[in-house]
Formats: sequence, C-alpha cells, structure tokens
Amino acid sequence: MSELPPDLARVLIGTEDIQARVRELAEQISHDYADVDSLFLIGILKGAFIFLADLARQLTVPNLVDFMALSSYGKTAISTGAVRIIMDLREPIEGRHVVIVEDIVDTGNTLSYLYHTLKGRKPASLRTCVLLRKRRESPPVPIDYLGFEIPNVWVVGYGLDYADTYRTLPYIAELKREVYQK
Ligand code: PRP
Repeated sequence: MSELPPDLARVLIGTEDIQARVRELAEQISHDYADVDSLFLIGILKGAFIFLADLARQLTVPNLVDFMALSSYGKTAISTGAVRIIMDLREPIEGRHVVIVEDIVDTGNTLSYLYHTLKGRKPASLRTCVLLRKRRESPPVPIDYLGFEIPNVWVVGYGLDYADTYRTLPYIAELKREVYQK
C-alpha cells in the first residue's frame, strides 16, 4: 500500500476487509429479502454514498435507491442532538420494504431521528444497515446489519470525511488526534 497521508494515524480497516464484509452484508440482506418484490434502499448523504454503491451492486434482490441528506447541529462540539432533513426522498415509502444505509453511528442521533421519521411514513418494513458503529454509550437505535465496531476515534475514508476530504480513500483510517483538536 502506498504511504498514508500525513494527517492519518493508521489504517483501521483495509480495503479487502471492507469489501469482504460488504459482500457478507449483501448476502445476508439478499437472503432475508429473497421473497420481496423490491427493496427500497435509502442512503444517507454524504457519508454513505460509497458503501451504498458497493452494497447495492452485490444484492441479488431487485432494489431501488434513493437518498436523504440530514444535518445535525453542534457536530464538532457537544451535540445538541437536533437533526433536520436538508434533502428528502423523491418518493413515498408507504407499503415498501425499506433499508436505511448509513456509514457510521456515532452518538446515534442521526439514525434515531431518521428511523422514527421514516417509521411514521408507514413502510411495510424498516431496517437499518450500518457500516461502522463506535464503541461508546450505545444509542437507542436498532441496527439490523452491522459491518464493524470501531473504537471512539475520528475515522475517514470509504465515504467518511474530515472537512470533506479523504472520502474517496478505499480503506478506513484513523485521523491523527492533533488534526481535529487543533
Ligand atoms: C455523519 C455520518 C452519520 C452521522 C452519524 O454525517 O454520515 O450520518 O454523522 O453521527 P451521529 O450518530 O452522532 O448522529 P455528517 O453529519 O458528518 O455528514 P456527512 O455524512 O455529509 O459527512
């Protein structure tokens, strides 16, 4: 592997491990929804775009893809937990089998808000697929499909960013503490 960018401390999850886990998640989801006509995947921008693209292409069940963008206040300081929708779905989800696809659950505020909001739109079923969950106080959100548990550090790559950079790295890496604490 070529040298790490200087802001990064170490690779936490390598490219091949990510790809293997995404394949397993896709197999599990394809198995669970084998009898369903169509699965409605909702990717949460921006972080989930790469994970969703890889996951969706490995599914063997017919699927539709849509996106939402959410914004939470006080992200870098102490989070207030307030989340708002800045881009909504193009179609209603009533009566559909929906899977929310998220890159990471940190405090759990985003997924919790989204889960309850979408539940209110009366889908036939609603599940969540999350690539990374930080090991910290567990959020009160159900995660049906989980890629990896990670330590409570700032991670970038495979969709995740620091100030909108590093999203397109093929691996997931830990950002040096001094970078985000300066
Ligand atoms: C990140 C990530 C999740 C959320 C998780 O999004 O993609 O959506 O934070 O954090 P939480 O569990 O504490 O709510 P971010 O707001 O950084 O936007 P981005 O995906 O556009 O980078």
